[in-house]
Amino acid sequence: MNKLIAEAKTARERAYAPYSNFKVGAAVLTQEGKIFSGCNVENSSYGLSICAERSAIFNAVSSGYKKFAKVAVVTDSEPPSSPCGACRQVIFEFGDDIEVIMANLKGDTKIIKISELLKDGFRL
Ligand code: THU
Repeated sequence: MNKLIAEAKTARERAYAPYSNFKVGAAVLTQEGKIFSGCNVENSSYGLSICAERSAIFNAVSSGYKKFAKVAVVTDSEPPSSPCGACRQVIFEFGDDIEVIMANLKGDTKIIKISELLKDGFRL
């Protein structure tokens, strides 16, 4: 869990957030033990911005991995931020039991399963 948070923290440093100044880093742990990370990438056309969690998941899926055990999200907020609704649905796509670890730079952590964060999420 510490390594996953550390990777999310490193990814946060790469965030491109000149409009909100709110940097977010995320890292996903696959069931095979691999870690993929991502950061938020904003755009001057605001709606095109992408969150860190989705960046990390799309990075993993693009690399051929889609069985996830945990997702860590790191921000500099107190209490630690939890994923937005869109990111919850994207995490939920890959399983009900994925553990979401929310952490901040101070070292506070909170862990909640995705099916608790997103009750009755959408499935086709
Ligand atoms: N953001 C994330 O990266 N993840 C979330 O779950 C919520 C929000 C980003 C989007 C935007 O770049 C900034 O945080 C402020 O909303």
